[in-house]
Amino acid sequence: MQCHDVDRLSPGDPQQIAADFRARFGEVFGRSADGVWFAPGRANINGEHIDFHSGRCLPMALAHGTYAAAAPRSDGLLRVRTLDAALDDGVHTIRLDEVAPVDSPEPAGRAAGAHSMDAAPSWTRYVAGTIWALAQLGEESPGFALDPGFGVDLLIVSTLPIGGGLSSSAALECATALAVIALGTPLGAQHSGSELDAALTDALRAEVAAACMRAEVEVVGAGTGGLDQTVSLRGLAGDVLSLDCRDFSVDWLPVGRLLDDYVFLAVDTRQAHWLGDGQFDDRRADSEAAAQVLGVEQLRYALPEQATAADARRVRERFDERVGAAAMVAGRPADAVRRRLRHALSEMVRSDELAEIFAETVPDPEVGPEDAATLIGQLMLSGHASMRDSAQVSFPAADAIVDAAVRHGAPGGRLIGGGFGGSVLLLSRRDDVTALEAAVDRACAGAGHRRPRFVEITPSAGARTVPLPAVAAHRPH
Ligand code: GLA
Repeated sequence: MQCHDVDRLSPGDPQQIAADFRARFGEVFGRSADGVWFAPGRANINGEHIDFHSGRCLPMALAHGTYAAAAPRSDGLLRVRTLDAALDDGVHTIRLDEVAPVDSPEPAGRAAGAHSMDAAPSWTRYVAGTIWALAQLGEESPGFALDPGFGVDLLIVSTLPIGGGLSSSAALECATALAVIALGTPLGAQHSGSELDAALTDALRAEVAAACMRAEVEVVGAGTGGLDQTVSLRGLAGDVLSLDCRDFSVDWLPVGRLLDDYVFLAVDTRQAHWLGDGQFDDRRADSEAAAQVLGVEQLRYALPEQATAADARRVRERFDERVGAAAMVAGRPADAVRRRLRHALSEMVRSDELAEIFAETVPDPEVGPEDAATLIGQLMLSGHASMRDSAQVSFPAADAIVDAAVRHGAPGGRLIGGGFGGSVLLLSRRDDVTALEAAVDRACAGAGHRRPRFVEITPSAGARTVPLPAVAAHRPH
């Protein structure tokens, strides 16, 4: 068979990345880094656009993610630089005491000075916002109390596609959070190196995830729902998280039964999802209008505890009765609101079905990995149809990739993340991955789409310290 070259994104070797990166830190800041911290991106098997409606999501943390090398300062300044080729324009300096939520009134005397957050590029808000949110957390949770005058030099590099729908923003927030906790809080002072990873229990990680989400909602001003930050901090190797966004409780379910024969593969369409910015908030506003019609705070509460497709249908009927022939509901077009409701309810039911499939601790011997893959694949395909027709967040390249994968014989595929660009998740037989990649790559080229990048998924652990190799110069001669 002829060999077909495709573009694959490697997660790299964390220790090697950390070693190279520490050297770069010295060149950039003229001092040594105290350490390197890593936070993963994510791929969500199901549960898009429902985290902010208290639905269930099924994300996995990736081996790909964002690294932060850092050293503390005591002058309240954040100096930060990214090595991402598309974003890097040198070091930005921000006064941390001037970082504030987007809707807060301008403090007297706060000019758009050289070190104000407003003068820096927008990606730095994720970093500055995270430090701001940790300071808020520290006021209630003493282990996280930031040292007075805390500042930090930070160098960032990522093995994720930036804006590729694999949660590069949350990885940036969570890597920053870990670096700041290690260097500027009592918890970091008590536990050095990788001991801190263990000291950060799941309950504490949930608090940090809430802070990172707060950074994104309040300082960046994005209507995110907590899915990304949760899996980036609370992921476990080999597991998919069954995340109940009513209370952010998690069941960790092994993907192992499938892993020998099948593999999840993310396909970055290279259409960066920030192109669709305001549209994400629009979709969210539509779905909130649906909740208002049904008299619930979030759409999950319109369904019973054990929700089925029949329950979802009944809720939609109730909605139709209340709306009647009106063209607009709660200030939004009725047809759009009806579609968002359909997406959210069906996505919630699918999540519960998938969680049950993954939770079968004693698999039925009659149901082999192949049947499980078929079931999971079919649910992924209905998820994609719902993203396309009901949430209306898909786009031609994503549809073409899912179609090409199905034609090739892959059991399933769907758009993941917020949509309007970003990545598609495919399920593939392990021995067919190379052929599937080639088929998808050809289909994209044939349809005039950009050639995609492939990210093989290894369900991985959440944010952690990267152990640095011993420095050669310290060895006695
Ligand atoms: C973005 C948001 C998440 C979630 C997804 C869609 O990634 O940050 O909170 O809403 O979109 O599921």
